[in-house]
Amino acid sequence: MNRVDGKVAIVTGAGRGIGRATAELLAERGARVLATDILDDDIEETVARIRARGGEARSLRHDVADESDWAAAVDAAVNGLGGFDVLINNAGVYLQKSIEETTFEEYDRVMRINVWGVMLGTRFAMGSMKKRIPAKGPAGAIVNLVSTASIKGSPFASVYATSKGAVRLFTRSAAREVSVLGYNIRVNGVYPGIIDTEMGAAAMKRIVDAAGESENRAREMAEDLHLIGRLGTVDDIARGVVFLASEDASFVTGSEFVIDGGFWLK
Ligand SMILES: NC(=O)c1ccc[n+]([C@@H]2O[C@H](COP(=O)([O-])OP(=O)(O)OC[C@H]3O[C@@H](n4cnc5c(N)ncnc54)[C@H](O)[C@@H]3O)[C@@H](O)[C@H]2O)c1
Repeated sequence: MNRVDGKVAIVTGAGRGIGRATAELLAERGARVLATDILDDDIEETVARIRARGGEARSLRHDVADESDWAAAVDAAVNGLGGFDVLINNAGVYLQKSIEETTFEEYDRVMRINVWGVMLGTRFAMGSMKKRIPAKGPAGAIVNLVSTASIKGSPFASVYATSKGAVRLFTRSAAREVSVLGYNIRVNGVYPGIIDTEMGAAAMKRIVDAAGESENRAREMAEDLHLIGRLGTVDDIARGVVFLASEDASFVTGSEFVIDGGFWLK
């Protein structure tokens, strides 16, 4: 059983997909969760689902690319839920575009959300956790949603792959930096394959488009790209994220946890 009991976690992009599943699993395992997103109705629903199963959660509208929203999120966790021990940097956007067609504004938007979002969250988490988490004992935990696209690259989604490549090295750098500073925080990354979410559907569309195939072959072609022969579920990823956030991973930092059904190897 993953030990997150009594911890307070902020989960970004918790309105749907991997973020919602992670928020639900953290709450099921005893964490108090601040579920944040830019989709108001969807985070309300995430919180309602958690409460219906006896968990403790609050929602907050929070754009990860906005610095003042981060200050409000930390305040809501610390003053509303009584702490801030775990940050799941999950919010992200995808862009299917050829390099030749990508505009400066599109590139900038993806980098602001996927890269700046993680950087800001980590900065605010470090600032809060260093004051509250003792140097010895249970550590604070930051888990970043990266992607196998950061390993393989991604034709017709190069901006997305580039943004995740940045998160990959940011994660390693942050893990090393907090250690040098003597902060008791672990920083890790999770690398999903193609997961059955709205973003996963966009990735599948890219695959059929690039192959010149029709859209009704998308799922089958995407499944074939995994050694395990299926897409990942949000729960496949949530279990890995919650492990890294938990005390069961107390000796794990700077790691790259690939949960991809063998996608990047194939
Ligand atoms: N689905 C996949 O195949 C896959 C693969 C590898 C990595 N990932 C990564 O996992 C994470 C979650 O992916 P998902 O498949 O659940 O995606 P999704 O599109 O289903 O959900 C993403 C969530 O992030 C939120 N979001 C977007 N911009 C935001 C912003 N500026 N501020 C706050 N929230 C914002 C969205 O509203 C949405 O609720 C992402 O970082 C993604 O890059 C997903």
